[in-house]
Amino acid sequence: MAKPRYSRIPARKSSSSTLVLTMLIMFTFVILILLALRILSIPSSSGGNSPKANDLSSIVHNTMHRNDADEGRAEQWVEVISWEPRAFVYHNFLTREECDYLISLAKPHMQKSTVVDNETGKSKDSRVRTSSGTFLARGRDKIVRNIEKKIADFSFLPVENGEGLQVLHYEVGQKYEPHFDYFLDDFNTKNGGQRMATVLMYLSDVEEGGETVFPAAKGNISSVPWWNELSDCGKKGLSVKPKMGDALLFWSMKPDGTLDPSSLHGGCPVIKGNKWSATKWIHVNEYKV
Ligand SMILES: *[C@@H]1O[C@H](CO)[C@@H](O)[C@H](O)[C@H]1NC(C)=O
Ligand SMILES: *[C@@H]1O[C@H](CO)[C@@H](O)[C@H](O)[C@H]1NC(C)=O
Repeated sequence: MAKPRYSRIPARKSSSSTLVLTMLIMFTFVILILLALRILSIPSSSGGNSPKANDLSSIVHNTMHRNDADEGRAEQWVEVISWEPRAFVYHNFLTREECDYLISLAKPHMQKSTVVDNETGKSKDSRVRTSSGTFLARGRDKIVRNIEKKIADFSFLPVENGEGLQVLHYEVGQKYEPHFDYFLDDFNTKNGGQRMATVLMYLSDVEEGGETVFPAAKGNISSVPWWNELSDCGKKGLSVKPKMGDALLFWSMKPDGTLDPSSLHGGCPVIKGNKWSATKWIHVNEYKV
């Protein structure tokens, strides 16, 4: 009498666990089928929504998304412009007061811009660069130090690696032909080594022209949302339109430390208005001032 009782109970246990197992397997199948049919999806940050490198059309989404949230306030956000070259725009990086202050410091000292002679390393006059400009000593006052601290935070590169800010002024017709910020001579890399990255801050709006253009950028350059607002020069590459307070960070070196030829860039001629900008060149080592 006892035996059937003992055998009955384990039998019931095993039949109920078989049932549970069967249901689990069926449930798993249903989930797999739903996943395969894309009715269900696993949340993932690296999923199908993340843009590919050089897919410049993804900028459209970022910009539109941001404009919705922006109600005329000086909201700050960083936008990836391109991965080749590595270029980023920090919107509203400087306040209007900071822009006006830098212009007021520079204005009394503006001189015709020069370029560096790649053979002698000396400054020389050139037709490829027709702006005027001046350098502001690094850390010269509290406001400049604060701006330089913000640049270090944005670029993740130390303040000591930066040259003094160069403030530039372009009037109608003035430009800077495409060039590299890195050097191909030994003379200019003695202090601080090679230039690694550049932060270009726009201190004024420009009505027409004056874009920063990257003619060697990879990707479909005409897919940027501001394409129709660009000058002919701006349409020769990936272009950033100057906007007061915005800062453009781009890298002259790839992550492996080699020079990046896609960092070729120029300042398009100003067609209408005035362009003021401030540039910070950042070296691989400390730049002694
Ligand atoms: C200097 O630049 C000129 C013209 O841009 C080029 O032909 C020459 O090879 C360069 N020299 C060096 C040392 O890079
Ligand atoms: C580049 O983008 C524009 C605008 O989105 C599009 O009309 C054009 O077909 C694209 N060109 C290529 C080669 O993908």
